[in-house]
Amino acid sequence: MPIEQTDKEVILTLPSDPSTSVKVLLHGANILSWTVAGNEKLWLSEGAILNGSKAVRGGVPLVFPVFGKSSSGPTSTLPQHGFARLSTWEFLGQVSASPLTVQFGLGPENVPEVLRKAWDFDFTLIYTISLGADTLETAMRVENTSSVDWDFQILFHTYFHIPDIQQVEVKGLTGTNVKDKVSKSDYSESNTAVTVASEVDRVYENVDDDVLITSAGKARFQIYRKNLADVVVWNPWVNASKNMGDFRPEDGYKSMICVEAGSVSGWTTLSPGQTWECSEKVKSLL
Ligand code: BG6
Repeated sequence: MPIEQTDKEVILTLPSDPSTSVKVLLHGANILSWTVAGNEKLWLSEGAILNGSKAVRGGVPLVFPVFGKSSSGPTSTLPQHGFARLSTWEFLGQVSASPLTVQFGLGPENVPEVLRKAWDFDFTLIYTISLGADTLETAMRVENTSSVDWDFQILFHTYFHIPDIQQVEVKGLTGTNVKDKVSKSDYSESNTAVTVASEVDRVYENVDDDVLITSAGKARFQIYRKNLADVVVWNPWVNASKNMGDFRPEDGYKSMICVEAGSVSGWTTLSPGQTWECSEKVKSLL
């Protein structure tokens, strides 16, 4: 069966290769696993809480309608990264057999009441996930179904599984403006490749190139983005990992890197009836 549904998860399996699959938790529409020919491509914390009481630590959490914590405006009453990852999405079903594609939907009626009241606008999100032989494509359609304008930010918070963080390079970011949350400074990226040897938490703004993640000199993931101008690179390293109760094992930072495609350096305004679309395609190269 290419699509399997339980009360909590939806699993897509490639008919031509059953060891290539993607597993989606309805809570947060959070992708928990993506395997290509039996190899896991995403990092999921051993301490991830999957019962709906918290956002999932790992896989691909969805960030909407705010990235991080906003200090002003209507999203300032929301928790960090908004409510999409804290809501249980509706499975809308399969929309294509080749590539194998499913959709999930979220509207105010699915959002926990306290969060819905905190950001009280009408909207529809349609999340489309397509599984290819060596690709995973995620797309979002955002619609303003209310009678007033509202602003949003959005991001696919992808946790990539990698064998050794010290051998990882992220390419395609050279020359772009960086908002560095660790050093609390802004600068232009001068390195031809970004490496990680301490806590990294950076927003790369208006990135033109496709982003490539390499490991031990070998190309591992190629990331193609549409309408997602920004790229966040995050690795909590030793201390920040310890401070997250659901980040396990504590040295799990050695085998993950978040490279997150988003539209987060500014705000997108949607008027009543307007829609906006974005997508990300990750190709596994190794
Ligand atoms: C990243 C942010 O996208 O997400 C970091 O840039 C943040 O600042 C990280 O720490 C994890 O966030 P959370 O809310 O899942 O712990």
